[in-house]
Amino acid sequence: MQRFIPSFALAAAVLLHSGTGWSEDDIFEFVPDGGRTLLGVLMEQDAADDVASAIAAREDGPEGWSATLQASPSAAELDTWQIDTLAHYLATNAPFDPDGALPQDGRDMTLNLCQSCHIVTVVVTQDRTREAWLGTLHKPSHIEIEMTEAERGALADYLVINGGIPIDLVPPALRAGGASY
Ligand code: HEC
Repeated sequence: MQRFIPSFALAAAVLLHSGTGWSEDDIFEFVPDGGRTLLGVLMEQDAADDVASAIAAREDGPEGWSATLQASPSAAELDTWQIDTLAHYLATNAPFDPDGALPQDGRDMTLNLCQSCHIVTVVVTQDRTREAWLGTLHKPSHIEIEMTEAERGALADYLVINGGIPIDLVPPALRAGGASY
């Protein structure tokens, strides 16, 4: 599985979020884009019309969404794991209006919910199955976190695909104490 962050998505994310406080030296840039950001990039393209209508109308599983994305020229620049990330995001959230406010994704949840008790490095460096992630999220230490079951599943999906980031890709400032919590 690929672990580097494609410059295409990064550049687009910086563009999309300029004005909302993001900058190129964002220390969390190494945490891969989630479905919300990837979809935002897709919606900028004219070729995304078919995908947009499908998202507004259809409920489907990750495989179905993956097939839809792979058939669309708008997703040509996405890597395999980004298509997988976006497909799982759509499986959780569609149908919804892709031109409206987009639902939170696994990256959003990771950054918003997983840093108050320990460093985020504890989370994003783990390479685990969905069942193992759900196990962690149901431990006594985590069950009190305010998340629905659907959100726990969506976070697990994101981390299965995007977790396991090698420590040397984690900014040094986030490495210290990475193994303690
Ligand atoms: C309320 C405090 C708290 C929050 C918030 C929190 N954690 Fe933890 N986490 C802990 C504690 C305490 C430990 C060590 C004890 C344990 O493992 O139960 C831990 C350990 C971990 C571990 C390593 C041990 C294991 O079970 O695999 C992972 C992975 C982890 N947390 C993931 C997460 C994720 C993902 C989130 C965000 C949804 C999160 N944590 C948010 C308290 C928290």
